[in-house]
Amino acid sequence: MILVAQVSDTHFDLGTRNAERAQRVMAYLADLRRRPDLILVTGDITDSGKPEQYAEARVALQADLPVLAIPGNHDERAAFREVLLAAPPSDEPVNQVHRMAGLSVILLDSSVPGQSGGHLTDGTYAWLDATLAATPEHDAVLVALHHPPVFLHSPIVDPIALTEPERLAAVIAGDPRVIATLTGHAHTSGAGTFAGRPLLIGPSTASVLGGEWELAPPERVMDYAPDPAVALHVIDDDHHLITHFRSVPMGGWIGTPR
Ligand SMILES: [Fe+2]
Ligand SMILES: [Fe+2]
Repeated sequence: MILVAQVSDTHFDLGTRNAERAQRVMAYLADLRRRPDLILVTGDITDSGKPEQYAEARVALQADLPVLAIPGNHDERAAFREVLLAAPPSDEPVNQVHRMAGLSVILLDSSVPGQSGGHLTDGTYAWLDATLAATPEHDAVLVALHHPPVFLHSPIVDPIALTEPERLAAVIAGDPRVIATLTGHAHTSGAGTFAGRPLLIGPSTASVLGGEWELAPPERVMDYAPDPAVALHVIDDDHHLITHFRSVPMGGWIGTPR
């Protein structure tokens, strides 16, 4: 089996709180008896895209196994590339593919510079087509992006979801190797369907956003009390997928080194 850990919306902001919560999740993953094969960080790595925030993230998110990150709406591509990927700064979408035995993880950059909503460019769709064409015939495929392509009943997130979701849905529906779409952005754990396949939304390590049945802006928008959490996607040899959502207690201590 393959174990993919999905960490999301870490929002590194140079403050202690968000960093410690992300570090606590990484420590939990490091201590697992069966280590993940991949840690996927689905966007909003930083809170405001500053190079110093990426430097903080780079240290906190390092592990002795592959860690792949994609930008979210709070990120900034040039600094993301320069600090996290050690690549020349550029405002081009940060699209990536990670291949392991039997599984290809395709990471799409749905961020739009200067905007909160999500969009995949023509260039990203062309890259996706080419990447799927180059994917081994019998691989399972996970497609990951920051912005959910479905309606969530989330008054905060729904206005800034992915535009033209039907275009992505057509690609996924046309490729039976895609076993699920993974997103972040919603600051809640979620499960649904998209293009006839599972849609799994990874929780934020930083905070929780309620649904329309719960929010009462401006007083109640973001809940900072819940423990950080992580999604654990387990893929069997027959490409069966099951996801566990795991909260990671903070234990109440602040400022103590691990
Ligand atoms: Fe976020
Ligand atoms: Fe976001």
